[in-house]
Amino acid sequence: MSKVIVIDHPLVQHKLSILRDRETGTKEFRELVEELAILLAYEVTRDLPLKETTVETPVATARVKTLAGKKLGVVPILRAGLGMVDGITRLLPAAKVGHIGLYRDPATLRPVDYYCKLPSDISERDIIIVDPMLATGGSAVAAINAIKRHGCRNIKLVCLIAAPEGIEAVRKEHDDVDIYLACVDEYLNDHGYIVPGLGDAGDRLFGTK
Ligand code: PRP
Ligand code: URA
Repeated sequence: MSKVIVIDHPLVQHKLSILRDRETGTKEFRELVEELAILLAYEVTRDLPLKETTVETPVATARVKTLAGKKLGVVPILRAGLGMVDGITRLLPAAKVGHIGLYRDPATLRPVDYYCKLPSDISERDIIIVDPMLATGGSAVAAINAIKRHGCRNIKLVCLIAAPEGIEAVRKEHDDVDIYLACVDEYLNDHGYIVPGLGDAGDRLFGTK
């Protein structure tokens, strides 16, 4: 069974609280999403393999460790996932970035796909999918399906806020995908919004409402 890792670091919880506040405007919202992505990236990369090597310091030869293993890719789910890309790639500058465009049909809450552009060598990379919100889980499951169709096997999902229903849906369909979160909220309301959540992440990030 996949792991669900809730990152309860004080900085994460503090920034998430400001993010939720309806009074937080677009500029601050954007900055907070990026900062939270950096903090989550630190935990998501905790198990990256290392190899031993040496480096000449001005004083002596040091035995050091550098990253080894497969290259990485970051895939935001459009639109709101875009807000997390800069934070993650700040820590992982060599990661390639793919994009998956999905929006939820407001009536059915099912994801509708409108865009997919992934790195050509994606099957050789370990992939981190980013999206601030995991609600019904439909969008995350569709994104994981698309990435697996391209031959990827090692995938992590990174969200800020999840509903229990969304976690359940992803684990049911993809029990090999670990899920990293800042918080698990209470439930989904009748419109598929996470309660208490933060509202519509895409609209708040891009100021479209
Ligand atoms: C939001 C969010 C997720 C999705 C989560 O995107 O960013 O992608 O909803 O809902 P789900 O788990 O029920 O699929 P939205 O569909 O609002 O599109 P947007 O980012 O373009 O606003
Ligand atoms: N998408 C959002 O942006 N917010 C929610 O609460 C649920 C889905």
